Amino acid sequence: MIDDQTLLTKAIEARENAYCPYSKFPVGAALLCVDGTVYTGVNVENAVNGLSLCAERVALFKAISAGKREFTKIAVACNAEHCQPCGACRQVLYEHAPDLEILMGNPEGRFKRTTIRDLLPEAFSL
Ligand code: THU
Repeated sequence: MIDDQTLLTKAIEARENAYCPYSKFPVGAALLCVDGTVYTGVNVENAVNGLSLCAERVALFKAISAGKREFTKIAVACNAEHCQPCGACRQVLYEHAPDLEILMGNPEGRFKRTTIRDLLPEAFSL
């Protein structure tokens, strides 16, 4: 199984493919599935405000569209210390992985460890 530092490295590397001409703030994510496979994602922005998608959701939707349904960990990296998933991503991640571990990283490979439950207490679910 992939170790935390390697998962974060995948997020850092993925970041290079971010499409972020408006914010100029590249973000990369690497999502680990229970079967050991990893799906990466980047933020994909759009000239129409509101249509952009965050790196975390791109990674998750790639994995789901490939048939994956169980996830253990996600690493996120941006050009800041401890890249925190936004509120929308927290809700979407919680739906599919209420026990998800999160590695909030920076480009140098340092990270802070947390969980989706800590980031989104009393989450909404049906
Ligand atoms: N962004 C992400 O992709 N993930 C995060 O966790 C925080 C923010 C993106 C959204 C937008 O494209 C840019 O970073 C900041 O404006």
